[in-house]
Amino acid sequence: MKAAIMGYGVVGGGVGEVLIKNADIIEKKLGEKIEIKYVLDLRDFPGDILEDKLTKNFEDILGDDEVKIVCEAMGGTKPAYDFTKRLLEKGKHVVTSNKELVATYGYELLNTAKEHNANYLFEAAVGGGVPIIRPIWQCLAGNNIKSVYGILNGTTNFILTKMYNEDMPFKEALALAQKLGYAEKDPTADIEGADVCRKTCILASLCFGTHIAPEQVATEGIQNINIRDVAYAKANNCEIKLLGYSEKLDNGKIDAIVSPFFVSKASQIANVSDVFNGIVVNGDMVDEVFFYGRGAGKLPTASACVGDMIDCAMHDEKRKNFGWGERDKDFVQDCKERNTAYYVRGEGNINEVKAVMGDVNFLALQGAPLNEVVFITAKEKEKELDEKLASIKSYEIKAKIRVL
Ligand code: HSE
Repeated sequence: MKAAIMGYGVVGGGVGEVLIKNADIIEKKLGEKIEIKYVLDLRDFPGDILEDKLTKNFEDILGDDEVKIVCEAMGGTKPAYDFTKRLLEKGKHVVTSNKELVATYGYELLNTAKEHNANYLFEAAVGGGVPIIRPIWQCLAGNNIKSVYGILNGTTNFILTKMYNEDMPFKEALALAQKLGYAEKDPTADIEGADVCRKTCILASLCFGTHIAPEQVATEGIQNINIRDVAYAKANNCEIKLLGYSEKLDNGKIDAIVSPFFVSKASQIANVSDVFNGIVVNGDMVDEVFFYGRGAGKLPTASACVGDMIDCAMHDEKRKNFGWGERDKDFVQDCKERNTAYYVRGEGNINEVKAVMGDVNFLALQGAPLNEVVFITAKEKEKELDEKLASIKSYEIKAKIRVL
């Protein structure tokens, strides 16, 4: 079967490599070869193994009836949205690692695929090489999913791990992640949480059956995590992890948030280090299941794309029944209504803190200045906790991190 790759960067290059390296294994499984007929990129790649397949013209792929499967690894929504839509309308199967596109236009593109008996698969869009989309959709199909949360960004987990284990400064760790090919083209999408937000939207849409868009999910990244808070976490048997979290509430709404969290060292999620991702799914029948593996990088992400390409080849005639319902603006609960506990670090008078916050859990750190007051609150509505904290006149908050 003939295929094309759109975008010959880290992921697209990896897809080419996997298809060539494991061609025999793939052919054995499928009973036929997956042959790359075109690689779309505006750049030149002199000497590359797929140099003779390069085209700068999307119409070559669209207009070639032999091409049945296209891997979109371009990233972003322009022109990826337009290209994907046109390919699906022509009945070509599309697989993608593009979380921005799926999180934003997933509902629409899945419907386009349905209308034209094509597959639109996106295993690589969440968790890199970790199988999570298909397990949720197929293996856990008999469950009412209660929650899904986890470490969904390799770059920030790599940075937090370096800060925690090696006291490496933030900037140095980011530069290393970029050098290793983990980070997005614009690393602010990693650092400020947009990448995790997109992945959280995809998981929550899949688990809870309604399209959840990035603007519906309150998002905070790791840009304000301070080495001092890392020290407090260490001294109190915790890690700081950037989590994408979503949970079905009793009132039918979804609690969805992207935020750094204090997590107990004893939890599985706290022990997910470096570029690895870890995802916990809670189903009413299966209880808790945990998915772990490389969440970013060339070959792990390409492994997921190629798995989808093989699935498309196996379902060339019959479409896989994948999807979720249209967006509902009231589906996600206001973040201020969620119940949480906070880790709070600030400067001020401990007695005034006690007078407002009551019997909170004060944390100590050797060598801390006398006026540094650090504590973990009881669990309460965020809105109420924020009001209480703001009312302690003498207390200047330096850091506030949610506790899982
Ligand atoms: N920049 C992303 C990450 C790539 O670091 O996880 C995989 O989505």
